[in-house]
This record gives sequence, C-alpha cells and structure tokens, in this order.
Amino acid sequence: MRAHLAQRHRFEHTVRVARLADTIAQAHGLDARAARTAGLLHDLARLYSTERLVQECAARGMPIDDFERANPIVLHARLGAELARELFGVEDPAVLSAIAKHTVAAADMGPLDCVVYLADGLEPGRDFPERAALAALAHRDLSAAMRATLEASMRYVQKQGLSVAPQTAEAARRFGIPQEAFHCPN
Ligand SMILES: [Fe+2]
Ligand SMILES: [Fe+2]
Repeated sequence: MRAHLAQRHRFEHTVRVARLADTIAQAHGLDARAARTAGLLHDLARLYSTERLVQECAARGMPIDDFERANPIVLHARLGAELARELFGVEDPAVLSAIAKHTVAAADMGPLDCVVYLADGLEPGRDFPERAALAALAHRDLSAAMRATLEASMRYVQKQGLSVAPQTAEAARRFGIPQEAFHCPN
C-alpha cells in the first residue's frame, strides 16, 4: 500500500485514518479489522490525475454521473474500492462500500460507511476548529457525528464556492439536516 501511494503525506494520512476508524469501530462494537482495512485502502486512487481517474473508471465500465464528470477527483473513492479488490483481494462488501462512499457519502450509509467517512474527515491531521470535538462525538454517537460532520463539510465546500455533491445532499437529508441549511444546486 505504501508503494502504491508513493507519497509520504498520503501514506501518513491513511495510517491516521485507519487508526481512528479502528477506535471508532471499537467504540460501537463494530468490526475494527474491517475498519482498519478500509481506512488503509481508502485513498488508493487519490493521487491519480483527473484524466487517469476518468480513464480507469471508463475502462472498468463504471458509470460516471454529471457531478463526477465536473469533479473527477471524487472518482478516487469508487475507483479506490475497485483497486482494493483487484490489487489487495478485498472481497468484504462492507469494506468496499466504505471505501467507495468515503468522499461524498451516500444516501444509504451503513455503520462501517459512517466510521470510515468520519475517520477520513476527522483524523488528527485535519485542521479545523471542531475536529477534536467531532472526533470525540464519533466515538459516542455515529448519527450525531455524521450530521455534524456532513454539515461542516457542506459549509466548507460552499465557502470554497464549490457545489455540494448530490450524494452528500442526500446523505445530509437522511441524517436529518434540514434542507434550508444548505444550498443544493440540484
Ligand atoms: Fe479520499
Ligand atoms: Fe482520505
């Protein structure tokens, strides 16, 4: 995995994500090994160029939606799940799903999906004021942490002048964030 990522910064991020995913999973009686595996492998395609992301997804017959077409970087999550299977022999659907949903979240998120989404956004290398409080919350209440983290992430995306992915907006709705709280382009 280290060889595949070939960048110290990204490797260290994945180790921190794996560790945080492990403790969050344990706090909720979930499979810590699956959480660590998903954490370690979640960013396999993160350093691919946008051209390569689109190309490799197309080569596998993966559909690419309008948001992904406009923001190809988010494809690293779904492509990463494919690579975890192809290169590392991961077959556990929960692990593959957590990798695939770690960036823009999804309408249907199981417990491991939430654990990895939260660990990616809240690992200690992330630098924003609510990080530590949200990481603590993630160990106590997955849904509350998802609500708060999705909200923080949508605020950030909008502050950057970017649009919220439809999958993220849908996840926000499912976790009970009122729609007025964010401007959804779709
Ligand atoms: Fe990522
Ligand atoms: Fe990541």
